[in-house]
Amino acid sequence: MKNSKIIVLTEETFEDAISETCQILSSGGLAVIPTETVYGIAASINRPNAIRDIFKAKGRPSDNPLIVHISKLDQLNDLVKEVNETSKILIKKFWPGPMTLIFKAKENLDKNITAGLDTVAIRMPDNHFILGVIDRIGPIAAPSANISGKPSGTTINDIIYELKGKVDLFIDAGEVQHGLESTVINTLSGKPVILRKGSIDKETIEKEIGEVLIGSDGSEVRSPGTKYKHYAPDKETIYIKEINNTNEFYDFLENCSKDKKIGFIYFGKIIKLSQNDIISINLTDNSKIAAKKLFRSLRELDKKADIILIMPLPNTSGLWSSIEDRIIRGSDKIINF
Ligand code: TXA
Ligand code: MG
Repeated sequence: MKNSKIIVLTEETFEDAISETCQILSSGGLAVIPTETVYGIAASINRPNAIRDIFKAKGRPSDNPLIVHISKLDQLNDLVKEVNETSKILIKKFWPGPMTLIFKAKENLDKNITAGLDTVAIRMPDNHFILGVIDRIGPIAAPSANISGKPSGTTINDIIYELKGKVDLFIDAGEVQHGLESTVINTLSGKPVILRKGSIDKETIEKEIGEVLIGSDGSEVRSPGTKYKHYAPDKETIYIKEINNTNEFYDFLENCSKDKKIGFIYFGKIIKLSQNDIISINLTDNSKIAAKKLFRSLRELDKKADIILIMPLPNTSGLWSSIEDRIIRGSDKIINF
């Protein structure tokens, strides 16, 4: 068991927090630190034992590679063999920011980071704290801060109990900016492919580089991590994708509430709920707000309810498509009424 320290990030603590994080990571420890998307469990890419500890701390399958985070473009030289033209355009437009690019990896890179693949996933996060750390100690590997399979952490409170004792330090920077992970995109062969949907939507990427394919829509081309059940609460979770027959839906609801406390997530559109035993969270019809609050809401309802029902989305384009991806992969069942 590690002795997990917590530092609350403020203007006053900022510099000391960076120093302490650097000291811990340089000596082979782990720190939960903020990025603009979700919190990450960070280790220095030059500390192989710490990289292995990340997999242990998360209970992460060893065939699921990590993302390397950089703070300056020249750090790419030591990590990748080549930066192609499409990547150059995406880097210029979206870095620092929630976009992860796949490159051919240099041979000296730790094979545990890449899970033995000949490619490496890299991004430049848009967050002063993590950039400050990387500026001083070089690139760090960081998966999302959560036990594998659970929703990613968007506040320290959400993850402290599952990761306490497994990391040396928590940096509490409040709620993250986006709440959904980065978009992972592979530009290495043919048309660019989104391997994991994320905070930057397909339409926004297509404005820069033309047509982009989605690898997670049934094709075999996708990130190793996306084959695992993910983002899932412990309680039974049902995504109600469409309601055409309102009566049937209300019957179902009434049936559920007989013996279960229902946790309810909806998106702006108010529906009449007569049952008392319902805890409802309105994620609104604003996709940015919904993305930011989704994981927290799942975690909250997982604690307070017996069953979680997620109502239909306002639409499935843009960022809603990434939100729906997480909902589908976190749900036990998808139902249409
Ligand atoms: O926003 C984010 O990306 C957060 C923050 C902390 O940066 N990180 C994150 O990491 O979500 P993680 O480990 O939870 O997800 C990394 C995803 C996985 O789906 C993994 O399979 C994929 O990236 N990935 C990593 N290396 C890859 C590679 N070489 N080829 C294809 N996919 C890769
Ligand atoms: Mg993750």
